[in-house]
Amino acid sequence: MIKVSLLLFLLLNLLIHIPNFASSQTKNDVKIGSSLIAGDDKTSPWISPNGDFAFGFQQLGNEDQFLVSIWYNKIPEKTIVWYANGDNPCPKGSRIELLADRGLVLTSPQQDETLISDPLIGVVAYGSMKDTGNFVVVNKDSESLWESFNQSTDTILPTQAFAEGFKISSRRSETNFSRGRFLLRMFKNGNIGIATVNLPSEYINENFFLIRSFDQLNATNYQLKFNESGQIFHLVNNSKEVVLSKGDIGPSTRFYHRATLNFDGVFTLYQHPKEPKSTDVWSTVWSVPDNICYSFPTQKGTGVCGFNRICRLSIDKRPDCQCPRGFSLVDPEDDYKGCIPDFVQECGDNQDNARNDQVEMETMTNIDWPTSDYEQLQPFDEEKCKTACLNDCMCAVSIFRENSCWKKKLPLSNGRVDNRVNSKAFIKRRKGNIALEDPNTSKPNKNQETIIIIISVFLGSSVFVNCLLLVVLSLVFFLIYRNKISTFDRNGSTMDQTLRYFSYKDMSKATEGFKEELGRGAFGIVYKGVVEIGSPIPVAVKKLDRIVQDGDKEFKTEVNVIGQTHHKNLVRLIGFCDEGPHRLLAYEFMNNGSLSNFLFGDLKLTWNQRTQVALGIARGLLYLHDECSTQIIHCDIKPQNILLDDHYDPRISDFGLAKLLRMDQTETQTAIRGTKGYVAPEWFRNMPITVKADVYSFGVLLLEIICCRRNVDFDVGEDRAILTYWAYDCYQEGTIYELVENDSDAISDRKKLEKFLMVAIWCIQEDSSLRPTMKKVVLMLEEIVEVPSPPCPNPYRTENSLVDAV
Ligand SMILES: *[C@@H]1O[C@H](CO)[C@@H](O)[C@H](O)[C@H]1NC(C)=O
Ligand SMILES: *[C@@H]1O[C@H](CO)[C@@H](O)[C@H](O)[C@H]1NC(C)=O
Ligand SMILES: *[C@@H]1O[C@H](CO)[C@@H](O)[C@H](O)[C@H]1NC(C)=O
Ligand SMILES: *[C@@H]1O[C@H](CO)[C@@H](O)[C@H](O)[C@H]1NC(C)=O
Ligand SMILES: *[C@@H]1O[C@H](CO)[C@@H](O)[C@H](O)[C@H]1NC(C)=O
Ligand SMILES: *[C@@H]1O[C@H](CO)[C@@H](O)[C@H](O)[C@H]1NC(C)=O
Repeated sequence: MIKVSLLLFLLLNLLIHIPNFASSQTKNDVKIGSSLIAGDDKTSPWISPNGDFAFGFQQLGNEDQFLVSIWYNKIPEKTIVWYANGDNPCPKGSRIELLADRGLVLTSPQQDETLISDPLIGVVAYGSMKDTGNFVVVNKDSESLWESFNQSTDTILPTQAFAEGFKISSRRSETNFSRGRFLLRMFKNGNIGIATVNLPSEYINENFFLIRSFDQLNATNYQLKFNESGQIFHLVNNSKEVVLSKGDIGPSTRFYHRATLNFDGVFTLYQHPKEPKSTDVWSTVWSVPDNICYSFPTQKGTGVCGFNRICRLSIDKRPDCQCPRGFSLVDPEDDYKGCIPDFVQECGDNQDNARNDQVEMETMTNIDWPTSDYEQLQPFDEEKCKTACLNDCMCAVSIFRENSCWKKKLPLSNGRVDNRVNSKAFIKRRKGNIALEDPNTSKPNKNQETIIIIISVFLGSSVFVNCLLLVVLSLVFFLIYRNKISTFDRNGSTMDQTLRYFSYKDMSKATEGFKEELGRGAFGIVYKGVVEIGSPIPVAVKKLDRIVQDGDKEFKTEVNVIGQTHHKNLVRLIGFCDEGPHRLLAYEFMNNGSLSNFLFGDLKLTWNQRTQVALGIARGLLYLHDECSTQIIHCDIKPQNILLDDHYDPRISDFGLAKLLRMDQTETQTAIRGTKGYVAPEWFRNMPITVKADVYSFGVLLLEIICCRRNVDFDVGEDRAILTYWAYDCYQEGTIYELVENDSDAISDRKKLEKFLMVAIWCIQEDSSLRPTMKKVVLMLEEIVEVPSPPCPNPYRTENSLVDAV
């Protein structure tokens, strides 16, 4: 009897433990038969145990196209690290299922099947999304049968290692995951190179850049490793040979790292905080090549940008590809099809003379297509070089340098801006310009205008909700009449400064169908574009989608007010579109992006540059407040709204728009997202908003410019978290050097540092009557008037105000 029960007991025990023998499956694992359906919100993606990564379908844009992919699950910015069907996105209703015999199978609604986990040999027990970002399919012995890490697409992740034969391929564009034009490979001899591919074929051009190169040709045991700490290095015979990734890498406990071969050919190591605030983005730690525009192969091929294009390096070291003047994109949907001249001089037909009448040479400096010449003339002079091309029907461009002239024919490849050589390019084009000016657009009227600034409201807490209603209902705004002569014709030609009218079609064409998003502002999305006004002018097109829809007259009035502002520290409005529901503003495009990148990013401005930037912003604001025909209160001064031009001069953007904000509170809340720290206390206190509100925001901004840090930053410890408090504490305790730690330029310029800090403290006074005017601020920053010692900006600071300030 005892024996029997013992036996039973053992048997039971065995039964209970059988699953453990079978596999070491955990609850996050994907069981055989599990499936996901594209576009079905009820099935949730397969998530890794710590929640960092997810596997499933991602919709492409707004289209009925889905990508089987792996992405970062916790960060708001959609970042796909692996994809299975880039070339063939699948429609809604497609299903992916894990099967024992075939692994991951994608089935379209038409029942076409694609094997995702291919090749795969063995019987699948389960699948698993790992915390590393690797999706593995394993057998019952937990041996991996297939893993996504072994089929990297355009991105590699920490813990991955690669040997000879390793390659990753870029995607077609930021949003198109088809096989792209760039390939990064590791060769037998350990070399790692990037090359272009002649799509749609597989032909690979010679490497245009070697990340690592060796002279010896004999095979040894080379490996590329991306380790847990986010370092990328080269291993030889399993010992570290050289660390490739340079730059400050944040600890992997707090940062995600990834390295991606971008669609434009730049290989970049990125990092992103793991617990992101809404403003965090992927920042570059290291990238190669240093200047992709200068790296070109001697062989044929389209080069980095495509035929007949010009590559210019943007500040983030990515190539900015443009058509030369007189050329247009072949296909606005696909940049890399290159550009074609708007006009080609024809050979033959005995019409040479007539033809020559119609062409002229446009001169540009420091542009070159180093590989497209068919003839070299030497010795030669500049004028002869120009006419030689003009009179040669085969010639598209001639380049003159020193005493040589190179004639070049179409298609031109590897075009670039090259400031290292002092060369002139003569580009053939049709005579005369066709301006894109609307005859109906008159000069902006110069009537006295009234600007009513509508308060933007903040819904930080329920207290604010109440305040906010009061604020909205009771605030009456200011009509400040000024009788100043318009500064319209003040600088430069009137022609260039005329506000232009664009049709929606013009705008759509200029932005290539609203393709390249530059950013999202309080008023809507901003796109990059080019308008043709005599010559191509790059623009930032702001699509206003959160403005009062029926305020038609108001819109025109506001636009005219903005159009009348002309100051070197303001972003110029070039034109606008007001057609049915479409309201768009085209501003001049600022190549260097926003100031915030240069304060909080990797590339910091020097102390000297920062003081100039601060002064420029102050002058721009002074103009808005006092010097333009209609007083404009900006209401949203913050680093994101300050752009930098080619000379790193600051330009204020988004001014004059506050009035167009919809009164609807839910909208305005999103409109002000993240900018609460810059807002003057009177916004919350049902007090009238004056220019002094801008002075407050400027003060906060000035502190950020001085210290190169955000106003609110809890990473630096609680006593330093709120910059406006900490700065005053440092000022009072005489420890101002702590504010500019490690910035030796600023520390050695102590007098100016102290002055700027005092000005900032004056500006952030809670009592708006104590704040100086912008006029006074400029005089103080210019050191024309003395800066008196400022009082404590927030005498009633309490624990609560700390919460309020955040
Ligand atoms: C994936 O690649 C690694 C390294 O090359 C290799 O050790 C592993 O066996 C591969 N896994 C599969 C399932 O092929
Ligand atoms: C991606 O680019 C390819 C090649 O230009 C094109 O055929 C395809 O339609 C594009 N896909 C999407 C989703 O735009
Ligand atoms: C490469 O190997 C060959 C034969 O294996 C040898 O003759 C040659 O010297 C080696 N070259 C180098 C650079 O080591
Ligand atoms: C990764 O590589 C770097 C550079 O060689 C090294 O300092 C670091 O300790 C490595 N991290 C790990 C987790 O191995
Ligand atoms: C790696 O090991 C091989 C064989 O042991 C040897 O021939 C080679 O020189 C080593 N390479 C380096 C760079 O140490
Ligand atoms: C210009 O004015 C004419 C006549 O008033 C009108 O027919 C035409 O549609 C206007 N064009 C544009 C682009 O507004």
